[in-house]
Amino acid sequence: MAKATSKTSNLTPKKVADSKTVMTELIMPNDTNPMSHLMGGYLMRWMDIVSAICAGKHCESHVVTAAVDHISFQNPIYLGDVITLEASVTRAFNTSVEIYVEVFANNIKGQQPRRCNHAYFTFVALDDKKKNPVQVPPVLPLSNEEQQLFDSAARRRELRLILSGRIKPKDATLLRQFFTDL
Ligand SMILES: CC(C)(COP(=O)(O)OP(=O)(O)OC[C@H]1O[C@@H](n2cnc3c(N)ncnc32)[C@H](O)[C@@H]1OP(=O)(O)O)[C@@H](O)C(=O)NCCC(=O)NCCS
Repeated sequence: MAKATSKTSNLTPKKVADSKTVMTELIMPNDTNPMSHLMGGYLMRWMDIVSAICAGKHCESHVVTAAVDHISFQNPIYLGDVITLEASVTRAFNTSVEIYVEVFANNIKGQQPRRCNHAYFTFVALDDKKKNPVQVPPVLPLSNEEQQLFDSAARRRELRLILSGRIKPKDATLLRQFFTDL
């Protein structure tokens, strides 16, 4: 059972840039629905893959997807578009890490750039037997944006642990503090 608070790891902290992962795909006919838009499920698959690679690099271990925060589709992606998926670690807890993934699209000429999606994925690091969760290295945020994502990650973690029934709302101290301070 998850704890509301997470232990501090003894491992050496790693920079966000050390595991940042970028993936590019060309949208082909097989990837689209009858309107020639990219199927949402295919996009989610690529988001899962790029995030898993990022998490694996940060944790230097096998990882499994434990949770995906809500994904909304802001702009359609069309047949023939080129999409770029960028995944970065925001924060590490005890055996889990949160990865932020953003999806951008443009046409093959590099025109009409659009930011299409973003989501937060949670991965759990596993030992070499791919069985038991293992401790993960902390994240060392450097820029202001990295620091903001790092700080807010602890609140997002509490929310997803409540929604998955792993902690009780009364134990979500950071979230309660956040709303009290508004
Ligand atoms: C994810 C999984 C390894 C967790 O196993 P578990 O026995 O519940 O392990 P624990 O209770 O020790 O939790 C391990 C970590 O997972 C986190 N976790 C588990 N479920 C979570 C959820 N729904 N949301 C966010 N974090 C979650 C816990 O908070 C804990 O993180 P922490 O150590 O950083 O605090 C296990 O549920 C599993 O194997 N699930 C299937 C994964 C899978 O098949 N994914 C899709 C294909 S890759």
